[in-house]
Amino acid sequence: MPEPEYSDDYTDPRLAIFYDQLNPWGPDRDFYLDLVMAADSVLDVGCGTGSVLRKARPAGHTGRLVGLDPAAAMLNQAKASTDVDWIHGDLGSVPFDQEFELVIMTGHVFQVFLTDNEIAAALTAVRAALADGGRFAFETLNPRLRPWERWTNQAEVVAADGTVVSTANTNPRLVERGIVEVVGRFSSPNWEREVLCPSRFRFVEVEELDAFLSEAGLAVVERYGLWDRRPFTEQLPEIITIATGV
Ligand SMILES: C[S@@+](CC[C@H](N)C(=O)[O-])C[C@H]1O[C@@H](n2cnc3c(N)ncnc32)[C@H](O)[C@@H]1O
Repeated sequence: MPEPEYSDDYTDPRLAIFYDQLNPWGPDRDFYLDLVMAADSVLDVGCGTGSVLRKARPAGHTGRLVGLDPAAAMLNQAKASTDVDWIHGDLGSVPFDQEFELVIMTGHVFQVFLTDNEIAAALTAVRAALADGGRFAFETLNPRLRPWERWTNQAEVVAADGTVVSTANTNPRLVERGIVEVVGRFSSPNWEREVLCPSRFRFVEVEELDAFLSEAGLAVVERYGLWDRRPFTEQLPEIITIATGV
C-alpha cells in the first residue's frame, strides 16, 4: 500500500469538485439566502463554492453580490455563475470601505481563524466593510456540546467528472484549548494514493465571542441557537449571530 499524500480539502482541485455534494443545501443556507435577498449589497467572506450567492440571482437579487475566498479551487466551482463578483483572496487582500449592507460567513468559516489576532483582524476588516447600519451574520459551533466528538462521518460521492471518492473524517480531537483537529481521508480507485487533509478549527464560548465582537466595534443584535431562529441556549448546537457596527 503506497504512503498517503497530504493535501488541503479547499485548495486541492480533486477535492473541491465534490464539496457541494458533501455539503448540500440545508436550513442554514435558507437562513442566509433570506438575509441576502433583503440586502442591496452583500459580501460573502470565505464563500467557497459560492452556493448562497449563486442562488440569489435566480431568486431575483439585482444588487451587488461579492464572494471572497482564498482557495482558487473552491472559487472555480463558484465561477459557474458569472453574474456574481468572485474575488480570489481574504479580508486582508481587499480594503473594503463601508460598502456592504450585509456581510456573511457561512459554513462555519469563522472557525478557520485560529488565533486571537486572526479573529481580531477578520472582525475589524468586516466592521470596515459594513455600510452605516449594515449587518454581519455568521455562525460558530457551540463548544459546550463538544460536536467534534461526533465528526466521524463517512460518505461516497461521484464527482461531476465521474471519479468515485470515499471520504471519512477521522481522529477528531482537542489538540489545545479551543482548537480541534480532524483528519479528512479521501480515496478513489482512480488515485494511486490516499489523500489525507488535516484541518484545525477554533471553538469559542459565547462570552468570548462577544468580547471579540465588541473589541472590533460590533454589537450583537440577534442571536439564535438553530436555523429556525430559536433563541440561543447552551443546549443548542449553533451560535448564530447577527451583529451591527457601533
Ligand atoms: C467550510 S468552507 C465554507 C464555504 C462556504 N462558505 C459554505 O458555506 O459552503 C470554509 C471556506 O473558508 C475559506 N477560508 C479559509 N481561510 C480563509 C480566510 N482566512 N479568509 C476567508 N476564507 C477562508 C476556505 O477556502 C473555504 O472555502
